[in-house]
Amino acid sequence: TTVEWEAESYDMGGHDTYMHKEISEQAEAVDRVLRGRIDDRFATVHLGGLNLEPGEARRVRRIKILGCGTSYHAGQIGAQLIEELARIPADAEPASEFRYRNPVVDPDTLYVAVSQSGETYDVLAAVQELKRKGARVLGIVNVVGSAIAREADGGTYVHAGPEVCVVSTKCFTNTVVAFALLALHLGRIRDLSVADGKRIIDGLRRLPGQIDEILKTEPEIKQLAKQYADARSMLFIGRVRGYPVAREASLKLKEVSYIHAEAYPASELKHGPLALIEPAMPTVAIVPDDDLLEKNRAAMEEIKARSGRILAVAHQVQEKADHTIVVPKNEDELDPILMGIPLQLFAYHTALALGRDIDKPRNLAKSVTVE
Ligand code: G6P
Repeated sequence: TTVEWEAESYDMGGHDTYMHKEISEQAEAVDRVLRGRIDDRFATVHLGGLNLEPGEARRVRRIKILGCGTSYHAGQIGAQLIEELARIPADAEPASEFRYRNPVVDPDTLYVAVSQSGETYDVLAAVQELKRKGARVLGIVNVVGSAIAREADGGTYVHAGPEVCVVSTKCFTNTVVAFALLALHLGRIRDLSVADGKRIIDGLRRLPGQIDEILKTEPEIKQLAKQYADARSMLFIGRVRGYPVAREASLKLKEVSYIHAEAYPASELKHGPLALIEPAMPTVAIVPDDDLLEKNRAAMEEIKARSGRILAVAHQVQEKADHTIVVPKNEDELDPILMGIPLQLFAYHTALALGRDIDKPRNLAKSVTVE
């Protein structure tokens, strides 16, 4: 592995944990992944290492995204961005599941492997199997020169800088931004209009400032975390764009605080999870101000009617919720990038309140390079 980061970037820089340091660095990190890539004239982005000619990009009929853990969740948001902006059918799957089920490998499908470390064995093995069968594989990777970056036919680096804490935060955010760039690039080669390209570019440029705004609400989030830290289990709900945000937030909470957490699409509440609702089982609801707002409000009402406590992450205070963390609004497609950030701080402060080993949660490793 070639690591080209400077030694000083491993300094804790006054933070008590790497997790806190890495959460706090996200505005600069996003700025880095955007830098030098935006082309205002054509309302698109340039991704130098993609190795995908426009003609080839137009012939792609499906995109399959493979990753593990947090990178898999980033891929789920990535798949939605690709469908929304480029109108190419896309989905994400855990790399391990993919490689054990003898998947149909299709020549018109573009495969995208996602990995912070670039060394996760299940992802690497999936890439090698795909390449052996002649598929085209791109990598969205953080560590430069890592095994997956080397095996892939092309791709893009995430430029999050070194991530030391076992649980991933800034790399998750940067990976999703990298997917937004890929989706915009593919969209502008296909049917995304100049006006929509510009709208997304403007939204991307607003992200670093908005991330700083979110980080300023940390004292409030810390208070909330103390109030919910007594929960034995928590439910996370979201719909469409909000659902992968809910999944990643629930993973973050369980990894670092050891509180059991489960994510569900809000629309599936009535098909099971409502039976769990009681005061001791709080719900975190992802409630973006988009066309599904009313549907999400209705879900919160159902939880309230069963005496459930609700913490909402939303663009405006939610009356149905006991507490709301208000985040700045961006373009609808880009909202998922911001809505997970306060929940990283929420997981962090819950773990802190419970005295957990934040940078090295029990039983977990930063990168799983064995089967
Ligand atoms: C491990 C880590 C997770 C990470 C996953 C994938 O399980 O604990 O935080 O998301 O591996 O790692 P990668 O380096 O491939 O993104």
